[in-house]
Amino acid sequence: MYARITGTGSYLPARIMTNADMEKVVDTTDEWIRDRTGITQRHIAAAGEYTVDLAEHAARRALQAAGKKAEDIDLIIVATTTPDRIFPSTACLLQQRLGIHGCTAFDVQAVCTGFVYALGIANNFIRAGSTRCALVIGAETLSRIVDWKDRTTCVLFGDGAGAVIVEASDEPGILSSHLHADGSYEHLLNVPYGISHGVDQLRTLDAYITMKGNEVFKVAVNTLGRIVDETLEANHLKKSDINWLVPHQANLRIIQATAKKLSMNMDHVVVTVDKHGNTSAASVPLALDTAVRDGRIKKGETVMLEAFGGGFTWGSVLLKL
Ligand code: UT7
Repeated sequence: MYARITGTGSYLPARIMTNADMEKVVDTTDEWIRDRTGITQRHIAAAGEYTVDLAEHAARRALQAAGKKAEDIDLIIVATTTPDRIFPSTACLLQQRLGIHGCTAFDVQAVCTGFVYALGIANNFIRAGSTRCALVIGAETLSRIVDWKDRTTCVLFGDGAGAVIVEASDEPGILSSHLHADGSYEHLLNVPYGISHGVDQLRTLDAYITMKGNEVFKVAVNTLGRIVDETLEANHLKKSDINWLVPHQANLRIIQATAKKLSMNMDHVVVTVDKHGNTSAASVPLALDTAVRDGRIKKGETVMLEAFGGGFTWGSVLLKL
């Protein structure tokens, strides 16, 4: 029994903020952002548009692509760092939107690695026989937790959602997942306050993303190099057996380093960071959906998904589409 992706979907908020727009907000330049990150623009959720709204659009598109109805779903996992409420979970809010009742539904918090974690979890649910049809989503409104006065972070992030339908199948689908974390790196990338500080306290604190970008960069490149090796070894595959790399979209230079590690031509690497910025848990499913819909990634091809983010967390999923 395999867990196989049978449909993908994604959604980006209508409002686009270009690097030129950023120049009006903080002391930065289009040239700096392009050179250091590869980003040219990002999408920003409208006032009153929340994570579950983005997730719902992406979910409906994935359902349509898979030829499934909402009532076929028996597991919903939403990976998000920016849930709409303290509770209920975004997965429960989404379940209500989709008009389904009773199935397992929960959120996963692994920051930028969230979707890879969620897909690995769904794979285990399906292989254990407790799920037939899972909806797995990465959805974020990162623009709500960036400090718009901090040029070192606000230029990097964007909003969006990506979704997949994962079904039990006799055909090979997900071949392996590799999920890791090391909380001792917490100080390099975090939001320093959360809900256990108390709602009243939170109002007076700077609960924004803080990052020592340069240090994160170095650990990300090394760690993603290691996860590539681990994934190939676990599957007894050579680099040349991988048709597509769908990486987390934080920085074009990090993506190029991982592609180099795989000896992979950039033609076989899905890059969306230029248009989406870093959408955290949404970035991998957004990139996957982009390349499936434009016909680049075809059924039967071998695809490596990988991500790295706050925690630190990191991981990969190897799959046949
Ligand atoms: O998704 C989760 C994981 N996150 C990541 O993987 C992000 C990893 N890190 C990065 O992508 C890069 O480190 C950044 C894009 C965040 C920064 O690029 P960098 O090449 O590492 O730059 P830096 O932090 O070393 O800063 C270089 C200079 C500094 O000025 P000085 O000290 O050299 O005078 C910064 O103050 O660039 C300055 N700077 C900016 N200048 C213009 C920082 N942000 C900006 C900005 N515009 N937006």
